[in-house]
Amino acid sequence: MIGDRLSQAMNEQIKNELESYYIYLSMSAYFHSLSLDGMGHWMRCQAHEEMIHAMKFFDHLVDRGGKVELLNLQQLKTDWSSPAEAFQDAYQHEQFITGKINELTTIAREEKDYASEPLLAWFSDEQIEEEASTGKIADEMTMIGDDKSALLMLDRELAARAFPAGSPLDPLAYKAE
Ligand SMILES: [Fe+2]
Ligand SMILES: [Fe+2]
Repeated sequence: MIGDRLSQAMNEQIKNELESYYIYLSMSAYFHSLSLDGMGHWMRCQAHEEMIHAMKFFDHLVDRGGKVELLNLQQLKTDWSSPAEAFQDAYQHEQFITGKINELTTIAREEKDYASEPLLAWFSDEQIEEEASTGKIADEMTMIGDDKSALLMLDRELAARAFPAGSPLDPLAYKAE
């Protein structure tokens, strides 16, 4: 059974992951409003991943006899001054989440909760990828500057990201053919 301290921290992390889901969905809407549909799609895939992250902690708590408590989500930013700013925010947000995963790992070690180690190690690896992908696009946005054709090229490139199979956010899952 999982202890109270780690249980509480994981409930906080479910909230952080769901807020990530919400932020990226907001960013998706922002990009679609600019007709940057590839970026809108990329952010929607990103949002999907965050929901899965929340559910990984949810399942871990359920499996280990912890109590899942869904906390209130914060009202977060819903508008950005440029596509570059949105990706910069995404990169900063992933760094914030990495810090949270590190805190969870510290708590798990202090509490000698060895059963959570594989899950937290998975999240540490995942955060390397998350920082790398958002950081790379943020850098590319800086290089693009005011070059509209370069922005459109990147938009086309980001449109190629695939939804994981069976994602409820994939329009194909709910739109009639
Ligand atoms: Fe996440
Ligand atoms: Fe993430």
